[in-house]
Amino acid sequence: MSLSFSYFAQNFNKKMEIFKEIEPLKKRLQELRSKGQTIGFVATMGALHQGHISLVERASQENDIVVVSIFVNPTQFNNKEDLEKYPRDLDADYSLLANNECDIVFSPSVEEIYPIPDTRQFELGSVSEVMEGKYRPGHFNGVCQIVSKLFAIINPNKAYFGQKDYQQIAVIRAMARKYMPEFLGEIISCPIKREADGLALSSRNVHLSPEQRQSALLISKTLFKAKEMSDNGENQKSIVSFIKKNISSDANLCLEYVEIVDKNTLLPITTTLKNKAVICITVYDGKTRLIDNILL
Ligand code: PAF
Repeated sequence: MSLSFSYFAQNFNKKMEIFKEIEPLKKRLQELRSKGQTIGFVATMGALHQGHISLVERASQENDIVVVSIFVNPTQFNNKEDLEKYPRDLDADYSLLANNECDIVFSPSVEEIYPIPDTRQFELGSVSEVMEGKYRPGHFNGVCQIVSKLFAIINPNKAYFGQKDYQQIAVIRAMARKYMPEFLGEIISCPIKREADGLALSSRNVHLSPEQRQSALLISKTLFKAKEMSDNGENQKSIVSFIKKNISSDANLCLEYVEIVDKNTLLPITTTLKNKAVICITVYDGKTRLIDNILL
């Protein structure tokens, strides 16, 4: 069967088109655009959860057509084992999307996206160099490679990203500004989705054992408490030392970094925190790397 096709997914509640190749997708989107339809876009790496669905719902409220990409982008993994271990379940993802507000899925192969290696280097300065940029060298360059390709293919009116990857949104905005001046789409940051007990939704949560899942709760609890401390006027130094002490009290958790940074520049903040700062944290829970953040 040729891959140059779109088909109407069957056994789902509604018709959802699935594209594996770039050219037929571009043609279909051009058709829709010429009828005046607006396009909302959600980029994902699959293993979808309610956090992704909340982006799809928002995109559906604000656009005529919702396009979701599913692509585990190899160039953004700086660790081979992490890439191999990344959860994949395309059928479950299709079914979840078809039962929500998604109209079109783009789930290409690696060869379709990278027929030749992408050697582009995105120079974005400190926004991509601090925190995740420091601990995951090359990660944001890979994110910029894939997101710039997806933006060029889909050319959405609005693109939705989850605030759990706070720094990623800042990097994508900077990338679009500097390297894609022709891109007129709006980049929209959507609130973090949490379980009822506070754990930030993440595709990586499936790797947690019940005991590690319990330990992971300490991350959001600590951030909520830190925000309370900030609201009560406590200084940055005491907030950071509280976070470090709290996280180290659980034997399963190992803090990689915690930083209080300016919510726009992502540089360490020196002035008063309120309404200006975000706390970003990365913690290993066993072998699973979890990130979270909270705006102050
Ligand atoms: O946030 C993610 O899942 C990925 O980094 C993204 C934006 C889909 C790019 O691969």
